[in-house]
Amino acid sequence: MKITRRQTLAGAAALGIAPRLMAAPSASLDAIGAAHGIRFGTAVGMGQFLDARYRGLIESECGVIVPENELKMHAIHPHGPDDFDFRNADTLVDYATRNGLKIRGHNLIWHHPEWMPKWSETFDYGPRPAERVAQILTRHVETVCRRYASRIYTWDVVNEAVDNKTGLMRETAFSRAMGSPEAVLDLAFRTARATVPNCELVYNDYMDWGSEAHRAGVLRLLKGFRERGVPVDTLGLQAHLSAKPDIARGGFGLDQENIWRGFLDAVTALGYKLQITELDVNDTAIPGDFGTRDAAVADITRAFLDCTLSYKQVSAVMVWGMTDRYSWLQHNKTKRADRLPLRCCPYDADFKPHPMRGAIAQALAGAPIRA
Ligand code: G3I
Repeated sequence: MKITRRQTLAGAAALGIAPRLMAAPSASLDAIGAAHGIRFGTAVGMGQFLDARYRGLIESECGVIVPENELKMHAIHPHGPDDFDFRNADTLVDYATRNGLKIRGHNLIWHHPEWMPKWSETFDYGPRPAERVAQILTRHVETVCRRYASRIYTWDVVNEAVDNKTGLMRETAFSRAMGSPEAVLDLAFRTARATVPNCELVYNDYMDWGSEAHRAGVLRLLKGFRERGVPVDTLGLQAHLSAKPDIARGGFGLDQENIWRGFLDAVTALGYKLQITELDVNDTAIPGDFGTRDAAVADITRAFLDCTLSYKQVSAVMVWGMTDRYSWLQHNKTKRADRLPLRCCPYDADFKPHPMRGAIAQALAGAPIRA
């Protein structure tokens, strides 16, 4: 007997299930989110891209991709500031364009001494280093932004400029030459706005309810941007979560939620929009079998997303990898006691969905609808 959609909805109503929660199992995460004004997507690096199964997951679930490493300054300028290598970035951007996917740009400058190009430490900036660095940075931002123009709809202009332990601004060879980290950051944002005026410009950072110093440092930076009139639209919430065995909801209990809401209230009061930019879950601390671990990962994902997506300012949920097979977390220095791989992404290493995928679908389906 064929059951009509009307009968299905009537049955759902009888069970007390709101129709909008009844997403067909075949609906993609992006389609579920898009119905609520939220786009869904993933990071993809060249390694994953070459795997047809990974491309299949992108095409069946995502509306957005973000190159995982290929747009970073060290990838574009492997040898020095004057040579540009766009081969890998072009491959990913062309693929997305052919497949009708939106693209996030990550990132124009990762203002962190460990992740700036190696040459930046030893380069001879000449007798007027501030001018030379300003020229290098301006040329970099203009060239990369112009190349992809409107194909990249949002850029992480600056990544992780605040030390997560101290809350202080990080120094690099660029900031030492220019006199302050803010001088570097402000120039990057102003140049990006002038080059791609319609692009949503993001300051992207780990963000966490556990580090008060870091939250305070990021808020100081965001206030400073407003005071100086720097064109920053959005805070990128990376959301590299860690599941905990001893806290409710996989590690995002009510105490954690209160702290997190306090932070998001302060950020949105300054007029910033939000995106979840790099969601995944480290389950190193969860003992037990896959069932136990998957439940904890799904619990923290659902609790975190329910809270964060209740802010209508959030327009995107990006995961930092679709499958456990390729996640950067598998190479983490801190290993699980049982040495088993992590269960950190919505699909397992064999490309089968695990409960985290269901948690994301439910959270997107339950999010308030954006205009
Ligand atoms: O491609 C080379 C390969 O040729 C070489 O054999 C191999 C040996 O180590 O390294 C490969 O490069 C690695 C690259 O990932 C690609 O897998 C680099 O060593 C490694 O450092 C790099 O790590 C990336 C990391 O950022 C640093 O750029 C991760 O993939 C990437 O997931 C991670 O992403 C960051 C975000 O950009 C910012 N937020 C945190 C997030 C996780 O750390």
